[in-house]
Amino acid sequence: MLNKVEEVGGQTNLITVVNQKGGVGKTTTVLNLATCLSAAGKKVLIIDLDSQGNASTGLGILPEDRKMSSYDLIIAEEKLSNVLKETKVPNLFIVPANSDLASVDMDLVNTEQKAVRLRRCLIKELSETRKFDYVFMDCPPALNLLTVNSLVSAKMVIIPLQTEFFALEGLSQLMVTIKEIRNTFNKELRILGVLLTMFDKRNNLSIQIEEDVRSTLSDLVFNTMIPRNVKLSEAPSYSLPGVIYDRKCLGSIAYQKLAAEFLKRERNTLSSTG
Ligand SMILES: Nc1ncnc2c1ncn2[C@@H]1O[C@H](COP(=O)(O)OP(=O)(O)OP(=O)(O)O)[C@@H](O)[C@H]1O
Ligand SMILES: [Mg+2]
Repeated sequence: MLNKVEEVGGQTNLITVVNQKGGVGKTTTVLNLATCLSAAGKKVLIIDLDSQGNASTGLGILPEDRKMSSYDLIIAEEKLSNVLKETKVPNLFIVPANSDLASVDMDLVNTEQKAVRLRRCLIKELSETRKFDYVFMDCPPALNLLTVNSLVSAKMVIIPLQTEFFALEGLSQLMVTIKEIRNTFNKELRILGVLLTMFDKRNNLSIQIEEDVRSTLSDLVFNTMIPRNVKLSEAPSYSLPGVIYDRKCLGSIAYQKLAAEFLKRERNTLSSTG
């Protein structure tokens, strides 16, 4: 537990993108939203917290440039400035991931304050330098210690939900975890929004699931939905975010709309929490 509530990051907004279900669009959302905000002149950092390293791959970070990773930030308490890398997207930086991260749960299990490691690492440097407007954390598909560390560090959460039959499955467990973290380590944590991804407007099931999710979660759901779009899934193999690979495709247009809605919601969320 933190001895006192220390603010993470000063003016920097830290957003974690979480869903313990795999393949729901967490990484795609991090890459494209972060890129849209960078293009709008914001300085943005992605912290890749998934040992799969998909966010790092999606930005073309080579294996030899991943020797220092988010593992070193959390376990070796390496300085942020020593582990981050520039990307080919102007204003966008990344702390890459490598397979070392797979052992973080084991490495931390007997350590004191295992849930606040990342928060402690981020507090100092972000507050002092105010270097970034936004930090996005790309979580693994698990409610493990890395995901908990990201929730303890973040100011806001985005939850992508794939528009498919089991969309809401697991959400209540995630909500309980968020509530527990709010009651213990991070009372400032807010859910910025639930994002429907891979929406297919020709599919009646997609439409019905959208209705269900909106009637269950109402205002929590972003108005913007991300359509299923092949260009978004092709982009990582070109080491580019979709919004750069093909900025005019429907998926990219949706992420640009999401960025505008993100900025609006962020302002409202910040003003409603004082
Ligand atoms: N809107 C979309 N349309 C089509 N394909 C998509 C879309 N969003 C994501 N994908 C593809 O679906 C797969 C899963 O997406 P992504 O990697 O973003 O999910 P994830 O939640 O990060 O997965 P994991 O839990 O494994 O980290 C990827 O191959 C990605 O390219
Ligand atoms: Mg991912």
